[in-house]
Amino acid sequence: MRLADCHNFHDFRELARRRLPGPIFDYIDGAADDEVTYRRNTASFERCDLVPNVLRGVGDVDLSVTVMGQRLAMPVYCSPTALQRLFHHEGERAVAAAAAKYGTMFGVSSLGTVSIETLRKAYATPQVYQFYFHKDRGLNRAMMQRAKKAGVDVMMLTVDSITGGNRERDLRTGFSIPFRLTLAGMLQFALKPVWGLNYLTHERFALPQLDEHVDFSGSAVSIGRYFTEMLDPSMTWDDVAQMVRDWNGRFCLKGVMSVDDAKQAAEIGCSGIVLSNHGGRQLDGSRAPFDQLAEIVDAVGDRLDVMMDGGVQRGTHVLKALSLGAKAVGVGRYYLFPLAAAGQAGVDRALGLMRTELERDMRLMGCRSASDLSRTNLRFRN
Ligand SMILES: Cc1cc2nc3c(=O)[nH]c(=O)nc-3n(C[C@H](O)[C@H](O)[C@H](O)COP(=O)(O)O)c2cc1C
Repeated sequence: MRLADCHNFHDFRELARRRLPGPIFDYIDGAADDEVTYRRNTASFERCDLVPNVLRGVGDVDLSVTVMGQRLAMPVYCSPTALQRLFHHEGERAVAAAAAKYGTMFGVSSLGTVSIETLRKAYATPQVYQFYFHKDRGLNRAMMQRAKKAGVDVMMLTVDSITGGNRERDLRTGFSIPFRLTLAGMLQFALKPVWGLNYLTHERFALPQLDEHVDFSGSAVSIGRYFTEMLDPSMTWDDVAQMVRDWNGRFCLKGVMSVDDAKQAAEIGCSGIVLSNHGGRQLDGSRAPFDQLAEIVDAVGDRLDVMMDGGVQRGTHVLKALSLGAKAVGVGRYYLFPLAAAGQAGVDRALGLMRTELERDMRLMGCRSASDLSRTNLRFRN
């Protein structure tokens, strides 16, 4: 199986599965508890039917949208994800380069493996910095100042990870940073020597957003302990309101699901919210963002930009979300499997296929731009 054989999400996932050591594949592919929410995220789009219009003169299709002040050439952006250089040695550089090529936004995680400065200098496309809130307020301020200085366009605070999710696949393999593999996990690494060779012969693994502040080497702090010990579970809306003031720019909350929270986000001056359950990796049993979208758009859509992520694998999924009122849609595994499969060439291909699907599907829907999409084009099954 080669990259040219990959025509959709499932093909990229399969190629990634063949190339990655099992514990790393499971870290990307896995989710919390029984993975019910993970499965439901994609299934939720299938409850919704598209009702196309015809003969609308769709020779030219414009996929661009503006979200949180950023103009994107297509309505899909790369959501921030951790540890990308572990999946492929090109890591965040590959994702940023592909996002720039397709004129869209990319997120860099606090647990990213390339620095926000390096990425900002190399790629001129909107950059989001994903932030976790630490107990140490001085550390929060220092990290925000650094992001400001780097020229990050949007600050994105993830609020659904107040504590780590229960990822049982990782418990079985021993996946953690630093590695604490079980014997079975170690054997699976031995089966993928090409991955090992690439890992060992490229730039040393690092977490440059945090390395100055947290010692992830040896037996010091694991990522699990970082979540349970360094992040602040007592964080409240007052803390976030202060952050919004300190940032004094485009600020977005990722992981909002309830109407009350969406209203509160608007109240404290957020420019956007992302409806998200972290790809099913945190609270299993939580609602799919697509199912919750209409309620949230109706409540706050006129006060801030509503986005969503979770389970998006197809252009039609994106069109359904835009029809309900989302301003843009984030993808995670949709670009992570291609990254793992083939580095930048993989992410390029995935975003290219998405753009082609979106153009084709817009034409088939009888729509020339995102503003032509509306709820009149949707019907929900019972
Ligand atoms: C391997 C992996 C790592 C992730 N790391 C982060 C992270 O560091 N910060 C964050 O806010 N979200 C993180 N996410 C969640 C994504 O940003 C996004 O919400 C989710 O992947 C969307 O679901 P999808 O994968 O079904 O598209 C991660 C997701 C995956 C799969």
